[in-house]
Amino acid sequence: MGRRSKKEIEEITDLPGIGPQTAEKLRAAGYTTIESIATASPAEIAMISGISEAQAAKFIAAARAALDLGEVETAYEFLQRRKQVRKITTGCKALDDMLDGGIETGTITEVYGPYGSGKTQLCHQLSVTVQLPEERGGLGKGAFYIDTEHTFRPERIVQIAKAFELDPMEALKNILYARAFNTDHQVLITDKAEEYIKSRNIGLLIVDSLISHFRGEYVGRETLAERQQRLNKYIHKLLRMASVYNIGVLVTNQVLANPGIYYGDPLSPAGGHVLGHGVTCRLYIRRTKGDRRVIKLVKSPYLPESSIEVAITESGIAAVE
Ligand code: GTP
Ligand code: MG
Repeated sequence: MGRRSKKEIEEITDLPGIGPQTAEKLRAAGYTTIESIATASPAEIAMISGISEAQAAKFIAAARAALDLGEVETAYEFLQRRKQVRKITTGCKALDDMLDGGIETGTITEVYGPYGSGKTQLCHQLSVTVQLPEERGGLGKGAFYIDTEHTFRPERIVQIAKAFELDPMEALKNILYARAFNTDHQVLITDKAEEYIKSRNIGLLIVDSLISHFRGEYVGRETLAERQQRLNKYIHKLLRMASVYNIGVLVTNQVLANPGIYYGDPLSPAGGHVLGHGVTCRLYIRRTKGDRRVIKLVKSPYLPESSIEVAITESGIAAVE
């Protein structure tokens, strides 16, 4: 987490056993950094580059050594690493309180809810608040925004930035934006994002929405297993990036209606167990009346389940009295 590679190994071609041809194949598949090699498996590297698994294992080990990514560590080292986990303020006090300070780095935070509930609004807001200086709860870093639904609005960023007393033009410049047209493209852009995370000081990766293309491309029961497999792979890619670069990852998800539920909420998050297990923190947002929303913390490893009421206002998602 946040570990720097040793001086002498900076490019993947610096690793022993990666020649120019192998490097080219790896780069084309999105393995552009030492981190991406260090956290890959020999089998996937072998499949992509056509070299043997034994050869791949050698330079994966070299990449891990360069990054000091040992698999075994003492509990003390683990605690030191935990201490590097940061919180990104949401800009809404009630929501921050519920999340014990905001969205965590190193893991995936998911927000799910029905149409118009405010998921995209929350994404806009976080892409601004991550830029706030540390003393105001931000990281003083930029955001990388992957938009699969074409609902990103720079004008809204301007409004929210003003509300947080940030220079709106600077706020816009600190958000890297990319549209994803289908699942393949979404994966490709996510790989690309990895280069920017390093070079452009990115503190938060947003995927709004994580699942829409997957749901759109894999329709029907017979494709479900394949979809879940790909989704799983994608979520692990996000998890790896969150952990290796110690950044926040915020994803949005849709809901499924469960007919036949006669008590409680008939809506459940899409994506099944694959998504449920992959995300560390899960928020459910729903509309109540007018601009009012209820946000419920439904999953967290150490925070209690609870919910708050907020309002979507001109200046963003705000607490209500
Ligand atoms: P889907 O992507 O369709 O599933 O919905 P979503 O959960 O992403 O909803 P989104 O975040 O787009 O919320 C839309 C709602 O936010 C609208 O119905 C408005 O109530 C509110 N909203 C959006 N833009 C503004 C704005 O500029 N000002 C104010 N006050 N409210 C806004
Ligand atoms: Mg949306």
